[in-house]
Amino acid sequence: MARHEFQVLAQAREYGGVIFPLCITPKADAKDLKEDASAVVKWAEDNRLEIESLLSRHGAIIFRGFAASVSTPEDFAAFVERGLALPNFPYVGGNAVRTAIVGDRVFTANESPPEKPIPFHHELAQTPRYPRRLLFFCERPPDTGGETPILLSTAVYDELRALHPAFLDKLEACGVRYRRVMTAHDRPHSAIGRGWRATFNADTRASAEATLRARGYEFEWLGPGEDAQLREISPVLDAVKRVPNGRLAFFNQLTAVWGGWRDELNTPQGCIRAGDGSALDEDAMEATARIMANHAVAVPWLRGDMLYLDNLQAQHSRNSFSGKRRVLASLAL
Ligand code: FE2
Repeated sequence: MARHEFQVLAQAREYGGVIFPLCITPKADAKDLKEDASAVVKWAEDNRLEIESLLSRHGAIIFRGFAASVSTPEDFAAFVERGLALPNFPYVGGNAVRTAIVGDRVFTANESPPEKPIPFHHELAQTPRYPRRLLFFCERPPDTGGETPILLSTAVYDELRALHPAFLDKLEACGVRYRRVMTAHDRPHSAIGRGWRATFNADTRASAEATLRARGYEFEWLGPGEDAQLREISPVLDAVKRVPNGRLAFFNQLTAVWGGWRDELNTPQGCIRAGDGSALDEDAMEATARIMANHAVAVPWLRGDMLYLDNLQAQHSRNSFSGKRRVLASLAL
């Protein structure tokens, strides 16, 4: 007998009869799942296949009602590592400032300032290697705001296909390239402020260059010395991907770049181009941002909530907030 049940959250949407996101919660009589972290790990082990197939079907799952059993970063790490048995994806190559909390498995989510929302993105879609899945864990909810809105990129693709077919045709034919200037050290005031040392886990320019070359990046040093600024230019990357359920997803970082890659060193127009070097259609970009906003689902965090995302299907973002919000993240292959 299943010891969990499904809830339809007030904020959830429905696409062709499939709820987004699905919410899984312990049944009323499954007391150990509400009290004992090791029972939750065992439950996740026993239900791993079902959970994975639900994730693939729904694109996102919220585990809710485990707050008294999964209450610490270590509990969360055990749920991910032993319960779901997810292969770890170390956070390398991204541009958000993060702090490791449990080994290289659990990190703080993007530490950019609370008043600055983070736009929709697929985790690391601006790089050739990205996690297939990711989880968030709410250790401490904010006082106000701070949701992690999500959306289905397959729905965005379908709508764009109807409204801006030429834009999608170009993206599918040419792909995209991302460019970014970074300093040696982190700049926590910027949402894309992760320095090249942390980004590439590199102490020297030579070591950063080795990583960049191995990943097929072009680069340029903007000055002398070991603390020089670096401009990285990605290889041509897909802007649309077919996900395992056969549908096409708007899998890229266009809207994030357009809405958020702006600081004292970078502008959106400078940070993204089509793979053939041409500029992107600004009207279509604006339309994409509107479509995404229409598909967004923002579920307020409760303490102990875990959000499990299929990174190929679902994008995530962050609303601005007040209070001492602490949301941790774990990435998986
Ligand atoms: Fe993210």
